[in-house]
Amino acid sequence: MLAAPNLVWDVAIGQFTSATHTGVADLFRRRDASCPGAPAVAEGSGAACPNQRRNNWKVTGSEMTAAMTAPSTPTDRLRPRRSCLAVPGSNPRFLEKAQGLPADQVFLDLEDSVAPLVKQSARQMVVDALNNGDWGGKIRVVRVNDWTTQWTYRDVATVVEGAGASLDCVMLPKVADDVQVKALDMLLTQIEKTMGLPVGRIGIEAQIENARGLLNVDAIAAASPRLETIVFGPADFMASINMKSLVVGEQPPGYPADAYHYILMRILMAARANDLQAIDGPYLQIRNADGFRQVARRAAALGYDGKWVLHPDQIAAANEIFSPSQEDYDHAELILDACEWFTSEAGGAKGSAMLGDEMIDEASRKMALVIAGKGRAARLQRTSKFEPPE
Ligand code: GLV
Ligand code: MG
Repeated sequence: MLAAPNLVWDVAIGQFTSATHTGVADLFRRRDASCPGAPAVAEGSGAACPNQRRNNWKVTGSEMTAAMTAPSTPTDRLRPRRSCLAVPGSNPRFLEKAQGLPADQVFLDLEDSVAPLVKQSARQMVVDALNNGDWGGKIRVVRVNDWTTQWTYRDVATVVEGAGASLDCVMLPKVADDVQVKALDMLLTQIEKTMGLPVGRIGIEAQIENARGLLNVDAIAAASPRLETIVFGPADFMASINMKSLVVGEQPPGYPADAYHYILMRILMAARANDLQAIDGPYLQIRNADGFRQVARRAAALGYDGKWVLHPDQIAAANEIFSPSQEDYDHAELILDACEWFTSEAGGAKGSAMLGDEMIDEASRKMALVIAGKGRAARLQRTSKFEPPE
């Protein structure tokens, strides 16, 4: 508990939240359980689930605001997404198989993995898979086509009208500016009202895949309270900026440093400044397990929350790499216990103290909270115990 009025430091998510937030268990709460028994909303009533999104929507009093969404809790956006499995929406075998795989999130794709000729039939397959599949607690996302195509509005309408109650988020690809996110938010709001779904429950994941999107990422990340993640799309991005490589995720030959550093950091800053998760995109060489690990570790080291996986073999690696190691988790928990002890009266009410050979203070505690939160979310168990000094 820290000094800021009405705010508590949340161990589970490593950030301040309002005092109403309840902790680690919420990380595993399904979005549709966040508003139990929400009354059906009549068309035009505009009523919203009281336990929904924090209102970080900046424009007030305008027509647009009225058409958009209501407040929520930060934890809704912070469920673990270490592995985000791409599933082509037109492939019944993959739609079936994905249900039993241990990914944190699945996204059923209507965009680039679905050929134009079967885009329409894929919508219904996705609706059926959401309604009838057993997704075992995974975050269920559908990626629609981007706003420059003719498909977006019918993708959203068919999927949300047909399976809105079984859907957690809509992923919007190739986002170029904040208006595209706001347009999706308003469309979702209308469909939720029409269908009697709780307004604002369905989240948005925004993919940054071109130069315009990256230049506008701050505004994009603040565009809607529905936003949960900002996702880097390396394949489209490399094409958009004419990067000289065809191997997605690998460094372009001829450049001696990390060609992705600026892009990854830019997205991460925008995401963190708006309390969103940052997700790294695909690594296409699915037989190259070492290559996947290397690229995933790069994103995890910066602070990314997870990565797309395209093949079952990549899931375990992503879950491992985006969880803290057992050693780091134990260490973080020890720091938290030690801080609690030495700041207490019994421990001498100190601002800093030694833990073994290491000096720790409030800043150490903040770093430990992040690691401990991720470890608890990954259900790691402690293997050591803090003993107060004699
Ligand atoms: C994903 O959509 C990518 O373009 O990398
Ligand atoms: Mg793409």
